[in-house]
Amino acid sequence: MSRLWDLGGALDARVLAYTAGEDHALDDRLIAHDVTASLAHAAMLHGRGLLADGDFAAIRDGLAALGDEHARGLWRVELADEDGHTALERRLTARIGAAGGRLHLGRSRNDQVLAALRLWMRAEAAALAGLAREVAAALGEVARLHDGVALPGYTHLQPAMPSSVPLWAGGFAAELEDDAAGLAACARRIEKNPLGSAAGYGTPGLALDREATRAALGFAAVHEPVTAVQLSRGKAEAQLLFEVHLLTQDLGRLAADLVWYASKELGFVALPPAMTTGSSLMPQKRNPDLFELARAAGAVTLGALVEALALPAKLPSGYHRDLQRLKAPLFRACDLARATAGLFAATLPEIRFLPERIALPPELGAAEEAHRLVLAEGIPFREAYRRVAARYRPE
Ligand code: ARG
Repeated sequence: MSRLWDLGGALDARVLAYTAGEDHALDDRLIAHDVTASLAHAAMLHGRGLLADGDFAAIRDGLAALGDEHARGLWRVELADEDGHTALERRLTARIGAAGGRLHLGRSRNDQVLAALRLWMRAEAAALAGLAREVAAALGEVARLHDGVALPGYTHLQPAMPSSVPLWAGGFAAELEDDAAGLAACARRIEKNPLGSAAGYGTPGLALDREATRAALGFAAVHEPVTAVQLSRGKAEAQLLFEVHLLTQDLGRLAADLVWYASKELGFVALPPAMTTGSSLMPQKRNPDLFELARAAGAVTLGALVEALALPAKLPSGYHRDLQRLKAPLFRACDLARATAGLFAATLPEIRFLPERIALPPELGAAEEAHRLVLAEGIPFREAYRRVAARYRPE
């Protein structure tokens, strides 16, 4: 099988395997979006009189059928295709004949991949934001189930101040809502139409209607000038990965609390057996592996963010194949964040705080005592602090 760009000379199979890498498999998740963007491009060509009615109808129906068959698992991008864009066009031409070859007028895989990725990121950011809000709602349920249950508030892992389960859960819920808002803010970089920039320098001699594809795909603006488009590749990814990282970091800190609260030493959180795993050697153990792996997810998302920042750095302007490597970290981090948030949303309402095991040492009230002294006697806080300290001086 040959690629769209093949002009005769055979490609070394080892070079194909290295350059296509995992790209062909990763691109399966872009096919639906490549179909959407290709339909918009074809309609624009038709509108401009660059595609005859019959050819447009054949392309439109062929793309729709291929998209539908791909969604049903009837075909996958193959290594020999090199990437998903080539796979789609090759199959379209096989299905409808020479008309398929008219679709690529005025575009390049360079703007095609950006269009597909932006549509994918739009959907992904919305899905992740929805999941972040679901975890926040699950924490609301934890708070409701433990209304009035007091907890020590810790600083430096030392008992510090009075807190409560609703206050603890409410803090995480608020930050998860903030993460959802951060994910929504990624739209600023995602919502620009790259189509019509083609390989990165527009389409000399060919007047395309970039506004038409913008409107069809629901982008907020046409990405201008054409030379900005390839310079931007990786920036929306990095912004999304930054927000994904903050989300997994918040989930990881929640997980860190639960691992500690469920430890034998504190032991005031009970994790349901279905959420814990056993030890192969020590029959007495129930381990919080779920929360430990969730705690570690942030390392993976941070690594992905660093990859996305490093890949375009120091590249000269224009398209470079280096940019293809942006997809793997993007998908890896988003998949992990989705799985982690989804599991938290489903399982958090099952955890139980055990009030009888929650130690509330009297020194949790030390700061409050000092505040009361200030209010009652009008003395400076520093003096009240010293008086109260004398009562709690550690032996
Ligand atoms: N798979 C490529 C990528 O993700 C698509 C663009 C390929 N363009 C090219 N000129 N080889 O970057």
